[in-house]
Amino acid sequence: MLDHLPQLQPDPILGLSAAYQNDTNPKKVDLGVGVYKTEAGDTPVLQCVAEAEAQLLQTQTSKSYTPPAGITGANRAAAELAFGREHQALTDKRVGTVQTPGGCGALRLAAELIAHANPDATIWVSTPTWANHVPLLTSAGLRLKEYPYYNFAEHRIDFDAMMETLQQAGENDLVLLHACCHNPSGADLSQSQWQAVAELASKQGFTPFIDMAYQGFGQGIDQDAYGVRLLADTLPELVLATSFSKNLGLYRERAGSLSVVSANATQAQAVLSQTLSIARGLYSMPPSHGASIVDLVYHTPELRSQWKSELTGMRERIAGLREQLVGELNARQDKQRFDFIAREAGMFSFLGLSVAQVTRLKNEFSVYMTDNSRINVAGVNAHNLAYLADAIVKVLD
Ligand code: LMR
Repeated sequence: MLDHLPQLQPDPILGLSAAYQNDTNPKKVDLGVGVYKTEAGDTPVLQCVAEAEAQLLQTQTSKSYTPPAGITGANRAAAELAFGREHQALTDKRVGTVQTPGGCGALRLAAELIAHANPDATIWVSTPTWANHVPLLTSAGLRLKEYPYYNFAEHRIDFDAMMETLQQAGENDLVLLHACCHNPSGADLSQSQWQAVAELASKQGFTPFIDMAYQGFGQGIDQDAYGVRLLADTLPELVLATSFSKNLGLYRERAGSLSVVSANATQAQAVLSQTLSIARGLYSMPPSHGASIVDLVYHTPELRSQWKSELTGMRERIAGLREQLVGELNARQDKQRFDFIAREAGMFSFLGLSVAQVTRLKNEFSVYMTDNSRINVAGVNAHNLAYLADAIVKVLD
């Protein structure tokens, strides 16, 4: 039955971790998978999370099933963080939120919901976009089209080309937008660009589908949600996938959510019922541990303020690393300026290298990044910075 299936190559992002682990070079540098790292290169459990887990261990009395939509308090947390507590769409009960197995679960569930509602729907994705968007969306049978986003030669968003292409998107289309910390480029829309996208969506009738996996890693929790809130203010419908993998460091606990904004409260209930029915057919209900942590941290004032300060620490450390990396790279050569890295935000930026240069970095210097030269800036630290800058400059030759 299955014996004709061929061996596949490792995942282009997750596969880097195994290659890095197997590398015996003591100077090896991991800039691959997008996980936050400390100066010591660890990805620790946040203190607010450890505290919440200790409390859960004391208070949890059952492992019985959660409700189909997951942990109610976690869904409230996700929706309030994304839209803002007093957002009209929330008070009008136009938002249905379900907990999902991570941000990937939210994206896939959304794709299934969209395909169910409109099998002819097309999703427009940015060029480039996160590699895993493609299988997550196409597995549900949706057609993808691309809109230009990042100009590799000039290290900036090509907004004019993006807007021109999106003139082709209409009522059967959704446009996938990264709320903040664009993965893989780190280049985010400005507020005025979000406003222009909102106007275009209104005029053309397409539905924004927003992936917000890094809220709090760009400029701050509220600033990073600017686009989500603006689009929810001005449009009747919006699809939003969120994740607590990065901003609460809950990666393996798979704590995410899917929120759908509908034109009115009645329709929101109908969409929610359809979403839950699809989830029942996929995985029945989401895991509870991560979401219980989210609920407890968000609704306990001391834990919530501890979380905000830990999140600020992660964001500011990455911003500082961006500056340091630019300084080290610019100081070593005058062929190429790397200032753009400091203008970008979140975990990722492109170095702007060819596949051949990336391969040299891996084979000659044990420096790991995805083939498109995306680096996880959080993997840089005081111990590897000089070695890394030397290695990058050597492959520029
Ligand atoms: C990444 O882009 O590296 C992360 O989002 C991890 C993943 O699942 O790809």
